[in-house]
Formats: sequence, C-alpha cells, structure tokens
Amino acid sequence: MAGLDVGTSYIVLAKDNNGNIEYKDFRDAFYIIKPSSPVATKMIEKGLSGKVFIKDNDGSFILLGKDAIEKAIERNDTAKRPMYRGVVSAKEKDAKRVLAFILQEVVGQSSEPGQKLVYCVPAQPVDQEDEDFDIGYHEDVIKTILQEVGYDARSINEAEALCYAELDTNDYTGIGISCGAGMTNICVMLNGEPTVVFSTTKSGDWVDRMSAVATGEPDSVIQAEKEAGGFKIGEPNDSPILAAVSAYYERLIDYTTKQLSSALTGHKMLPKFKDPLTIVIAGGTSQANGYIEQFTKKLSDNNFPLAIKEIRHANDPLHAVAKGCLIASQIL
Ligand SMILES: Nc1ncnc2c1ncn2[C@@H]1O[C@H](COP(=O)(O)OP(=O)(O)OP(=O)(O)O)[C@@H](O)[C@H]1O
Ligand SMILES: [Mg+2]
Repeated sequence: MAGLDVGTSYIVLAKDNNGNIEYKDFRDAFYIIKPSSPVATKMIEKGLSGKVFIKDNDGSFILLGKDAIEKAIERNDTAKRPMYRGVVSAKEKDAKRVLAFILQEVVGQSSEPGQKLVYCVPAQPVDQEDEDFDIGYHEDVIKTILQEVGYDARSINEAEALCYAELDTNDYTGIGISCGAGMTNICVMLNGEPTVVFSTTKSGDWVDRMSAVATGEPDSVIQAEKEAGGFKIGEPNDSPILAAVSAYYERLIDYTTKQLSSALTGHKMLPKFKDPLTIVIAGGTSQANGYIEQFTKKLSDNNFPLAIKEIRHANDPLHAVAKGCLIASQIL
C-alpha cells in the first residue's frame, strides 16, 4: 500500500513501515542536455554520475528532479516542468514521457502484482472555463503510468486526502485547503464524505510569476528567495524581491478567500453544519511566515459564510496530502 501526491512542484510518496510513515520527496522537474560531440557526451555522462537521468534516443540526457533545477541554474537556464497548474502540461511536448520516468523512479516496480496505490488529482477549478481545463486526461495518464509498473492505482481528490490526514480528531468534518504551486485545492467534508470540492489556479507559481514581472528577475530566482523566507506577509520588506513576494502573497490570499466565500455561499451541496468548523491548511505555499494569520483575517473580511472554530496549519504541510492518500489506500 502506498500514497502518492502528484504535484506541480513536488511528487511525494508515502509508505508505511511498521506503523511509521516514510516519505520520499522528488522535485517534479527536468532538464535536457544535448551534447555537441561524442567527446562531450562522454564528459557529460561522467559529470552526471550519481544523479537521476535518462539517456534519450537522440543522444541527449534528461536530468530529473532537484538535479535538473541545479544544473539549469548552473547554466543560466530554467528547468522545465512536466506539469502545469496541477495537471500534465499541454505546453511541453515531452511532458507525458518525462512524468512517466519521474513517477516510475519515485514509486519503483510494485513488489507484488496489484499492490494498492492511491494518488491524488486536483478538482475542477472554479476560475477557468470547463472547455479550457479538464482533469480527466491527467487522471488517466497517471493511472496508466502507475499500472505499467504493476500497481492497482486509484485516484482521490487532493484536498479530500488532506482531510483524511488531518481531520481524524474532528470526526472527519471540516474543510481542507491544499496550497500548492499550481493550484489551491479545497474540500468540504462531512463525516468522511467529501461534499464540495473545487480548486483555483493561483498559488505559489502565480506569486513567483507576478513578482518576476514586478522586479524583472527570473521566476526561478524569485522562487528560491521566497522559499528561503526572510519576509512576513503583510509587513514591509527592504528587499525589492521579498517586498513584491509579500505583496503578491497578500493578493493571493485575498483572491483565494474571495473565491472560497463566493463558491460556498448558497452552494446546494453544502451541509448544514451544526457546530463551527475546523479549517486545516497545508501545502508548500502555506509555509510562508504569516500565511495562516493573513488567511484568517481575509476570510472574515471577505464574508466567509460558515461559522469557524479554528483555522490551523497541518502538522507536516508538505507531506499531509501524501499521508492522506496512504490512509485511503489502507482503507480501500
Ligand atoms: N518555505 C516556503 N515558503 C514559501 N513557499 C514555499 C516554501 N516551500 C515551498 N514553497 C512553495 O510551495 C509550492 C510547492 O508546494 P507543494 O509541494 O504543496 O505543491 P505541489 O503539490 O507540487 O503543487 P500543486 O498541488 O499545485 O500541483 C511552490 O510554489 C514552492 O515555491
Ligand atoms: Mg499539491
């Protein structure tokens, strides 16, 4: 049994080892190096020893994971991503093939045929036209990739998985919000039943992109600075990059809480909760200093329609979704 969080920025595998959950994180990125001569091929291959890469039919090397990001930066370039906004990228021609390499590298061959594996998929976004965005193809592509290495793979919604991991002490009732790179995913759960699920297509990557536009720096530089911390959302900052990041974080949270309020206000499937709700927040983007505070404030400013008991951060924000997928695989 295993749980797999297939994310735009990170792939996370969760496995149970005698009651302890073990995680494996892998950056969802690749970088292609095309050698200019047979000598260069040999040299490059030597330099790549110990790194995760594949040798392509045309003689080029495809580096995978964090090594791809490091190598790209070393060459004043940017690594590519097989996923965009939560699903397999339509913009990269190598996306499907590379994602297969990455996922199969992370999960390995199933130790016995038909081993259960639950992976997560995002919900349909509320801020895109249905004709422009569909998760169906993504879901099928991932399933096929995992079946090829012997798994009985089943999908669940990303924020639903988060609820399974974090709402065990709340009778599995509340709201889970996963703030990733490409998307924010939301699930309203009542006694273990997902009642409303949806997503928005703004999150960490959007903060990087907008801050890059504002400062003239590449997205990769913004992302690295942002992840190193050194700023608090809602407070001024002397660094131009961090000031932009902080400002766009405020806008992101304002946007997300507005979307959340308007999506749930008057929603036909929304249960009549008898008690105030717990909201649990996870994902890499929620790790910025002040995120939960700012979210709490904006949710009330933007007229969230339900009574709230508490808004808390997941215990392990980067692994909570994978943990929820593992829990689901143990129940199925
Ligand atoms: N300490 C940090 N502070 C701010 N942002 C961070 C931090 N660590 C990671 N991030 C951001 O979190 C995002 C990655 O989070 P996560 O791994 O939850 O996303 P994902 O699951 O890969 O994406 P998605 O769910 O959208 O497909 C990236 O945008 C990354 O820059
Ligand atoms: Mg995610």
